[in-house]
Amino acid sequence: MRILGIESSCDETAAALLETSDSGSGVRVLSSVISTQIPLHRLYGGVIPELASRNHSGCLPSVLQDALSQAGCGIEQVDAFAATGGPGLVAALLVGHTAAKALALAAGKPFVSVNHLEGHLLSPFLHCPEELTRPHMPPPHLGLVVSGGHTLLLDVRGLGDYRLLGRSRDDAAGEAFDKVAKMLDLPYPGGPEIDTRAEQGDPQRFELPRPMLHEPHFDFSFSGLKTAILYTLPKLSPGGDPRELDPTTLCDLCAGVREAIVDVLAQKTLRALRHTGHRILAISGGVSCNKALRARMSDLCRREGVRLLLPPPALTTDNAAMIAYAGLLHARAGEFSPLEATVDPNLPLAGFATRS
Ligand code: KG4
Ligand code: ZN
Repeated sequence: MRILGIESSCDETAAALLETSDSGSGVRVLSSVISTQIPLHRLYGGVIPELASRNHSGCLPSVLQDALSQAGCGIEQVDAFAATGGPGLVAALLVGHTAAKALALAAGKPFVSVNHLEGHLLSPFLHCPEELTRPHMPPPHLGLVVSGGHTLLLDVRGLGDYRLLGRSRDDAAGEAFDKVAKMLDLPYPGGPEIDTRAEQGDPQRFELPRPMLHEPHFDFSFSGLKTAILYTLPKLSPGGDPRELDPTTLCDLCAGVREAIVDVLAQKTLRALRHTGHRILAISGGVSCNKALRARMSDLCRREGVRLLLPPPALTTDNAAMIAYAGLLHARAGEFSPLEATVDPNLPLAGFATRS
């Protein structure tokens, strides 16, 4: 089976083609094309929804063309079409979703509407060959999704069977990185900017809060970091102007923020691993690209005897390979969406209503 996936929920226009054999063993990524709008939104310090959707409409045809030609595949050789149905920016979602439905209708092939968060959640398994030979994917595991919009700890029992253990009560981890970076006058998106500077910084120099670290639930809170930086800046530069910070201080602040976020993520994940007894941890979303988070989680998993799965860095931020992969798993399970399916900017992941 060959499936074409489209992603357009935020500021990346992406298309990817995946192929799987009839026996269901092994998935090959034939192509994965991403056209990023980051340079455009960087001018405004964040994503402008109207610009995002207009840009998706403009570049989707060439992104699709590139994905097909890199895969050496004609549209008539595609067996199913998948697209992100939410959560995300409504007008941006509509561009990719409507295009995939139109292609499915024209080709007379099935359509799968994919939850963007499920795409992230399952992405660590895409490049995990021996897992792909299993009849039932994904295997039971603990999922940590850390993206720009969400921080979720999920007890995954099987495809579509996701129980929410914890989530951020305010800012998501990626959002915290982005907002603090903005306060430090660093470009959007802030996560990679903070990550790079943190490599040269001293994480111990500034004492930053780690909210809810010792509370016995699995929820997170990251908004206190903004306040802490707000009160720290005036002590470090005239008028609290971040442009007046010396480079060492800037790197130390970045290292402190990164350490605070990683400490909380690691501590809650460890507790959730012990609570659920899962032996596999899969981490996904843009923040899973963070160097310190990857290092800390691999130490933690080694000590706990837990298998750690991470997507390759290029598949951590938004891409269409993860959407095609989630679509493929649902298609294999015989689960398709009607062409009447529409987008939902607040689409919950299955099981959100029930906390276990
Ligand atoms: O998963 P994603 O592409 O978007 C959503 O679905 O929300 O994640 C984007 C987020 C941004 O907040 C970005 O700052 C963050 O991922 N990010 C990082 C790193 N690379 C991207 N955060 C920390 N360290 C990084 N290296
Ligand atoms: Zn995402």
